Amino acid sequence: MNRNSSLQKRLGIGLTLGVTLLWLLGVAASGLVAQHEMNEVFDSALEETAQRILPLAVTDILNRETDTGNRTAPALKEHDEYLTYVVRDRQGSLLLQSHDADLRVFSARPREGFTNTSTHRIYGASAVSDTLYIEVAEPLAHRREAALEAGLALLAPLLFLIPVSLFGVWWVVRLSLRSVVEFQRSIESRGASDLSPVDKGPLPEEFKPTAVAVNRLLARLNRALDAERSFTANSAHELRTPLATALAKVQRLKTQLADQHLKKNVVEIEEALRSLSTLSGKLLELAKAEGGGAISQKPHNLVPILAMIARDFEPRAPGRIRLTLPEHEVNSLLDPDAFAILARNLIENALKHGSAQHPVDVIMTDDGRVRVCNGGAIVPPDQLALLRNRFARYDTETGGSGLGLAIVDAIASGSGMPLHLRSPATGRSDGFEAEVNVTPAGLREHSH
Ligand SMILES: Nc1ncnc2c1ncn2[C@@H]1O[C@H](COP(=O)(O)OP(=O)(O)OP(=O)(O)O)[C@@H](O)[C@H]1O
Ligand SMILES: [Mg+2]
Repeated sequence: MNRNSSLQKRLGIGLTLGVTLLWLLGVAASGLVAQHEMNEVFDSALEETAQRILPLAVTDILNRETDTGNRTAPALKEHDEYLTYVVRDRQGSLLLQSHDADLRVFSARPREGFTNTSTHRIYGASAVSDTLYIEVAEPLAHRREAALEAGLALLAPLLFLIPVSLFGVWWVVRLSLRSVVEFQRSIESRGASDLSPVDKGPLPEEFKPTAVAVNRLLARLNRALDAERSFTANSAHELRTPLATALAKVQRLKTQLADQHLKKNVVEIEEALRSLSTLSGKLLELAKAEGGGAISQKPHNLVPILAMIARDFEPRAPGRIRLTLPEHEVNSLLDPDAFAILARNLIENALKHGSAQHPVDVIMTDDGRVRVCNGGAIVPPDQLALLRNRFARYDTETGGSGLGLAIVDAIASGSGMPLHLRSPATGRSDGFEAEVNVTPAGLREHSH
């Protein structure tokens, strides 16, 4: 049997086999007892018959006038005999026989008591000072048939028992495993960021240790992730002040230098410090995004927030952003700060990695979908799949840390919004598109 096969199937087949085997043993035992009892009854009937016929036969023989009288007992009516008998003297010469009696069945000399031949059970008795013997024969086939019928009658319930047992076990196991299946579903259906303990209440005792172990593991995972996030957040936070100080000092130094060559070097240091400070900012954003909490208590209209962010980018790329906003409010339980971080990263990517000749489309629709599309080279599918990972970059010509899409992905998955990355963009032959729905079922306001 396959080790991985279902418990239901294994128990069903195993228990049914067991019940069938026990039943067969029971049938065999009761069959043997019944056969023994039946033999006793048959034997006693055989003996009784012999004892009853003998006096009649003796009278009949003694009343004969000559020795050559009728040796076959007349049948009153033509019939098949079930018990046959012969009456003989001590030497075995025939005196009387029932009309169907077959002499080959009996031994040459009469014997008293029970004897068996291969086909018959014979009982012999004597009378008139052991000068007359009667032997009655009963075919063994009859006894065998009786035993067989009794055996079959005992086996018949198996026809009913096997399907009932299979179904019964299947049903009981199914019923008892229902809570386990629900437990498994509840683990399966939770989002990646839901590390709260699972409910082990309705589980059968045997499965509770599993739930306890799962909960322990979840707690450990939670602690480890917390530690990692707080380390990242703290480090990024601690780096901010010294970085800002260093940057300020370098900028002051730049103004004080007259030597062009030295000035160029200082500008390079300034650039490096700036990208370090961007990196620490992004690390902080990532740590916050992964820490969850991107869902707010009450719904907010996200349309003005998107409009404001697009406006903020305007000085960096005048005229490149084409903003399309919905006619109605889009209210979502997504935290406005988290949405701002998400939108800023997507628009920044489109401006930075998209081709400068093409506009960047920022589109929000009434149904809450936000799409950011840009032109430029196609990102191959195998690369596209990796971009959500931290520090993953495909376009290495522009600077960047590879954290932007990881932040977007963390916010999206933490709040149950599907994030789609496509290349080429929909309706184009090139470019890149990112799409999130800020009002999935879990983030819609319920206050209507
Ligand atoms: N709009 C886009 N068009 C083309 N490629 C993109 C676009 N957005 C992301 N990519 C690709 O995905 C990679 C990862 O993007 P991500 O935002 O995570 O990192 P980054 O922009 O390189 O750096 P960071 O955002 O941390 O400054 C980019 O390096 C780029 O190759
Ligand atoms: Mg980016």
